[in-house]
Amino acid sequence: MLDAGGQYCHLIARRVRELGVYAEVQPSEVAAEKLEDRRGIIISGGPASVYEPGSPTVDPAIFSLGVPVLGICYGMQLMAHQIEGGKVTKGVKGEYGLANLQVTERDRLFDGFQSISEVWMSHRDRVGQAPDDFLVTATTDTCPIAAIANDWRKLYGIQFHPEVVHTQGGKIILGNFVFTIAGCEKDWEPTRQIEEIEDEIRRTARGRNVFFFASGGVDSTVAFSLCLRALGKDRVHAAYVDTGLMREGETQFVREVFTKMAGDSFEVVDAKSEFMSQLAGVVEPEAKRKIIGEEFVAVQERVLETGHFLNGNWVLGQGTIYPDTIESGGTAKAEVIKTHHNRVEGIQKLIDSGRLIEPLAQLYKDEVRQVGRAIGLSDELLDRHPFPGPGLAIRCLCTAKVEHSRKVEGGYVLPVLSVGVQGDSRTYRATLALESYSEEAFATATESINQLSDVNRVVALVAGVAPLADLQSHLSSIDEVRLDRLRTCDAIVRRMSVYSGFEERIWQFPVVLLPCGIPGKPDSIVLRPIDSVDGMTARAVPMPEALLKDLTAQLLKVNGIAAVFYDLTNKPPATIEWE
Ligand code: XMP
Repeated sequence: MLDAGGQYCHLIARRVRELGVYAEVQPSEVAAEKLEDRRGIIISGGPASVYEPGSPTVDPAIFSLGVPVLGICYGMQLMAHQIEGGKVTKGVKGEYGLANLQVTERDRLFDGFQSISEVWMSHRDRVGQAPDDFLVTATTDTCPIAAIANDWRKLYGIQFHPEVVHTQGGKIILGNFVFTIAGCEKDWEPTRQIEEIEDEIRRTARGRNVFFFASGGVDSTVAFSLCLRALGKDRVHAAYVDTGLMREGETQFVREVFTKMAGDSFEVVDAKSEFMSQLAGVVEPEAKRKIIGEEFVAVQERVLETGHFLNGNWVLGQGTIYPDTIESGGTAKAEVIKTHHNRVEGIQKLIDSGRLIEPLAQLYKDEVRQVGRAIGLSDELLDRHPFPGPGLAIRCLCTAKVEHSRKVEGGYVLPVLSVGVQGDSRTYRATLALESYSEEAFATATESINQLSDVNRVVALVAGVAPLADLQSHLSSIDEVRLDRLRTCDAIVRRMSVYSGFEERIWQFPVVLLPCGIPGKPDSIVLRPIDSVDGMTARAVPMPEALLKDLTAQLLKVNGIAAVFYDLTNKPPATIEWE
């Protein structure tokens, strides 16, 4: 897979792997000689135009290697641009969404594909003239050259996206390319790699021991488990830091799972008081995140200094997975919006000096789960939602100001700030609260944000003990009382959403505490269930009415809670977490 900057590049690689064929992502500019021994090359789509200076390109020699090439979207345009006789036409209007594709020449790529079918298009430029000796093999109303082929040279281009589910028969096309044209065999199965991964762990460790920070998350647990299998309990050690910012029952859960798995090779480090005292009085989200990151490093250093078990001769084990190992535009961007706790200097130093083992670096998330299942880890562990390293701290909002909510057209502006991502940059703005909740309101949330310059998020009041006009913020930071309040509410939400089956239908469900209420009931709760593929973008999702009603009734009984809100905002313009 040559990555020309397309948001779908990883999806294509995953689809190929789903067919049972190993695929790897490389930057599009990789030299042709490095691709000589590949069975097939796919060039992904991308947002650029081949005419823009500095836009992604490929080494033109890849088209003469004799290795089959499939160009998808921008990849097809690159092909037409670089092979003699081909031309790309600059688009004005573009074509986005479903289109009817008509196959006009049945080549090996379209074998078994319907003559007319719906495909997903997303492009502005298009191929205006096929290269010499290429046939035009498919067409749509707005895109006369929707596919090109030179069967003899094994070069193929398609303007539509076979990797998305909206393209009928997309899998047939990818299957024809990898099996019939490229001659690959169905021999990739992540669980078959387990032995190889274990060999690799032994090779990388080279006699050194491995140290892990356990979080209870899927990736780090599977990675740890593989190291245990490869090296044995004597050479692997895990520490779980109890920051005091965990969800209800979490520490207990991790303790049980890891003790069962690793026995004495696992320890819980109690650092509650350190984290709490560092966070006291802190309001700004980035300040909180940095304090937490630094504090993790401090605890790490302490554990490692006293870690006689490692004989000073150790490497750090991490659960990094494939999409994290490749620099993608999206990941690089996310870093600027929020500072993640595991990207701090101390860890970087270990990485730079080669003291790192990442057994899952070649796998996608779903493959990690398959491996986890194959080595006997429980579904309860493997199907968990992601949970951020800084824990409840970034869901417990704080403020240094006492302010009233403010009436605006369409609702009230709540006097609390949260983080958003608008036009590629971080925003830190107030929240618009609608006076009532309805499923229709999801559709207009982004529109309302575009109309108000000081707002990056929209919530709807589900129920409360006072009207929105009476809500005000109170001086607040992270303290035991508020953390307990949030932990209690989070546990109620989790229990009821698991029980009702809602939990399985969503990707993540943050529960957030706002310092906004009335005297005696100073805080409010926000429900933020979202759907996502990788956390880079997300959609706010409604929940069944009955569940919402039950949940709200329970939450309003919790001491200190004045109102329950529902977050209606997608990412972008808001982020998944409020801070
Ligand atoms: P945002 O809020 O940026 O979150 O839309 C995207 C995903 O990342 C998770 N997240 C974190 N995970 N350390 C982590 O391990 C962090 O510091 C962190 N911050 C956010 C978040 O829960 C969501 O799944």
